[in-house]
Amino acid sequence: MQCTRNVTDHIIWVGANDRRVNLFENLFPIPRGVSYNAYLIKDEKNTLMDTVDASASGQFIENVAYALNGESLDYLVVQHMEPDHCANIQRILELYPEAKVVGNAKTMQMIGQFFDVDLEDRKVVVKEGDTLELGSHTLHFVMAPMVHWPEVMVSYEDSEKILFSADAFGTFGALNGNLFNDDVDFEKDWIDDARRYFTNIVGKYGMQVQALLKKAAGLDIQMICSLHGPVWRSNLNYFIEKHDKWSKYEPEEQAVAIIYGSIYGNTEQAADALAVKLGAKGVKNIAVYDASKTDVSEMIAEIFRVSHLVIACPTYNGGIYPPIENLLAHMKALAVQNRTVAVMDNGTWAATAGKQIVKQLEEMKNMTVLDQKLSIKSTLKADQEEILDAFAQQIIDAM
Ligand code: FEO
Repeated sequence: MQCTRNVTDHIIWVGANDRRVNLFENLFPIPRGVSYNAYLIKDEKNTLMDTVDASASGQFIENVAYALNGESLDYLVVQHMEPDHCANIQRILELYPEAKVVGNAKTMQMIGQFFDVDLEDRKVVVKEGDTLELGSHTLHFVMAPMVHWPEVMVSYEDSEKILFSADAFGTFGALNGNLFNDDVDFEKDWIDDARRYFTNIVGKYGMQVQALLKKAAGLDIQMICSLHGPVWRSNLNYFIEKHDKWSKYEPEEQAVAIIYGSIYGNTEQAADALAVKLGAKGVKNIAVYDASKTDVSEMIAEIFRVSHLVIACPTYNGGIYPPIENLLAHMKALAVQNRTVAVMDNGTWAATAGKQIVKQLEEMKNMTVLDQKLSIKSTLKADQEEILDAFAQQIIDAM
């Protein structure tokens, strides 16, 4: 049974949803699933914009056949070669022997790496600024290297003013019958997953996203068709501004997230005491996370959201407690920067975690580590109330 939706009169969503997979990239939990979007432009030259993940091949192939309605497929435009989009290239080329593949030189090289297909007479190699006439539609190709792989390109269709944006402006979350952003309450139900998707998948490449946003600013865009999540047809600036902030590593909110590691609950209690202290002093919307129980992708997304971060951590095997060490490794890999951080550590003997955490934070760009550290020996004691108070106050003073 086909599951297609019309994006416009001539453009059909032929993608598929995946609610079975637990981990995107076998790494990121996606309890709400994910959509792999693909689009068919119906014109004199029928053109398929990307394919889908291997897990969704059956539905996708059926959707494409239904949308073509017996007509031929002329072009397959490959904007991104990550297998969540490219897995069905070979299958499409076998099913539609007249179809040509459109991509840049790097795309063609990667197709050769992933598949055993002879593209010699079936490839159309494009570069920045090239166009492809489909009839009444024209695609303009814009290179977007490292958003999120080196071969990525996006395509602007000028008759309907649509940006086919590859991974950009995507989000985790399956589409539940509602294709467009204004069919859902994005701010309530989707923004956290969109932030988690962006920060963990493309977060490292802020500069390259900025370059793409600058190119996009020169286009009259009425609709954004990403490879994941809803199609944007209204309030585009809301989502573009979010991406602008995320890719500049600017916090979205003046807010504090306290992330702690705790082996037996003593560091947790200190983190809680700090949260209460901050709350009593008037700080709103404080977020507290146990690093052992919270997926690192959620903590990364929160760190991109907030302006101020507290890391509380015990010493473990003479080093940083592993869940916090893992978080710091992800922060470094994803180029987290421009945050103010307070560090609290705990040690029953030979406490070293605090110093090691500060060292790692100092290796990141533009991180302000607050002077006052709070060191706990096993448990936070009542006579440390004043120290805790001063520790909390320095965070507020820095806000
Ligand atoms: Fe959705 Fe980079 O692939």
